[in-house]
Amino acid sequence: MEKFYTTTAIDYVNGAPHIGHAYEKILTNVIFRHFKQRTDNAYMLTGVDEHGIKIQKTSKEMGIEPKAFCDMNAQKFKEAWELLDINYTKMIRTTDDYHKKSVQLIFKKLMEKGDIYKNSYKGLYCAGCEAFLAEKDLDEDGFCPVHKKKPEVVSEENYFFKLTKYKDAIINHIKQNPNFIIPSFRAKEVLNQLENIEDISVSRAKSNVSWGIDVLDDPTQVIYVWIDALSNYITALGYAPDKESEEFKKYWPADVQVIGKDILKFHSIYWPAILMALDLPLPKHILAHGWITIDETKMSKSLGNVVSPKSVMESFNLNEPDAFRYYMATAAPVGKDGNYSDDDFKEKVNAILANSMGNLLNRTLSMLVKYFDGNIKQEFIKHNSLFDGAKQTIEKVKHHFDYYEVAEAGQEIANLIDKTNKYVTDSAPWTLAKEEKMDETGHILYTVLEIMCVASSLIYPYCPNIASKMAHQLKYDITKKIDDIDFNNIKEGKLISKEEIEPVFLRLDSELAKDKKNK
Ligand code: MSP
Repeated sequence: MEKFYTTTAIDYVNGAPHIGHAYEKILTNVIFRHFKQRTDNAYMLTGVDEHGIKIQKTSKEMGIEPKAFCDMNAQKFKEAWELLDINYTKMIRTTDDYHKKSVQLIFKKLMEKGDIYKNSYKGLYCAGCEAFLAEKDLDEDGFCPVHKKKPEVVSEENYFFKLTKYKDAIINHIKQNPNFIIPSFRAKEVLNQLENIEDISVSRAKSNVSWGIDVLDDPTQVIYVWIDALSNYITALGYAPDKESEEFKKYWPADVQVIGKDILKFHSIYWPAILMALDLPLPKHILAHGWITIDETKMSKSLGNVVSPKSVMESFNLNEPDAFRYYMATAAPVGKDGNYSDDDFKEKVNAILANSMGNLLNRTLSMLVKYFDGNIKQEFIKHNSLFDGAKQTIEKVKHHFDYYEVAEAGQEIANLIDKTNKYVTDSAPWTLAKEEKMDETGHILYTVLEIMCVASSLIYPYCPNIASKMAHQLKYDITKKIDDIDFNNIKEGKLISKEEIEPVFLRLDSELAKDKKNK
């Protein structure tokens, strides 16, 4: 694999990040970290979406200049991703100068091409969606079905993008590339939407929306959020219509663009049309993930059930994000909705990370110290049929990631650990040691440790800190590429002393967490 480029949606900065935003960033980061194990040229872009009426209104209500308001909130997103060890390559802000300039030039190029034209318009605008809605999109009360608010009637002279010109080309692309939209069941939905598309408004009158990027040569209009926002995926790489940067040439088209199902229309219809108009190739895949609920309820400010990643970390007293990352990344099969609950979080990560994986390593190393003073003897080192299974796990994990099935790949890793635990229970090395069958005992321990090396590599994208602690105790190189994983990591000689053994993950103590939360 030569390169890998993945992106997330860019979040509106009118509030602080919640675990829905975090879900997407973690999912993308696990994908990114996995593909870093397959190529040296992997790139992850994330960012924040800062223009539009919503930001303009919220900052006004707070009595702050929009830019100062954005600075304050963009920082919260940055800090949240740091807390979650999201090691993105770049975080773009749509108020960045280079982005604004490129967007203006993109707009200009589309105007020159005749794909953008001016027209007067009367429509229903939902500030929540930052989009015009058709009557048929509204619920029976005439409200936006997503934001439960009545859209505003807006009558303006706007610029329009000739979406209809690209309709057939997009339909063909989706039909000819069944994996363009992942999961594929969403493609039908998009094809239905395509049946009724119209040209879209791509600017707003400055008299109504001032917080946006100016249209070049027309001071009465600002570029409407979606053309601004979607362009981030290429401007971040240094694209401008008059100059394609080296980075852009290297990374575009994106391998996978990760977004929520609510904004699939923008990414599978508007975005491809804009790219076609710019004569640029389309991304290889659009991954539309599901939504995260809290205790099976939709998160909303009015219900007061919005949970931030920071509050989860604090309430469970976590000093590293691995458990939360693991839980979120495996919260739902690809494209399906998932749920967060404190109890389920605790139960799941205790079961898998502490009891199953952490304990297995701890017990095995402790036995190695007890029976062999931490030494591996040459007699222990031989092939075990478990290695064949582990090889298959590596292939299965890779295959799942080829389709961005992050939770499914996580399940394969959990299965490998379960199988290895069963092997230890069934072969009972403690009994063999009592019977003084020391080579057999040693071989069992050796086998488990080899498998744990593989497991640490595979779990690394989900739990980088835990995996590093495992690798450290195994004297294993965690930076290994996935195709270099093999079974001669554990060498003859001293592996570990009693003092060097440390648990890689401590069980979450629910009572302690609840106490802290109540305070
Ligand atoms: N700014 C636009 C995206 C522009 S991309 C060129 C936007 N922002 S958002 O802040 O509303 O949402 C950002 C991302 O978070 C979207 O992909 C959205 O689906 C995701 N999520 C927001 N709430 C979510 C959940 N409760 N669960 C999972 N993801 C959700 O849309």
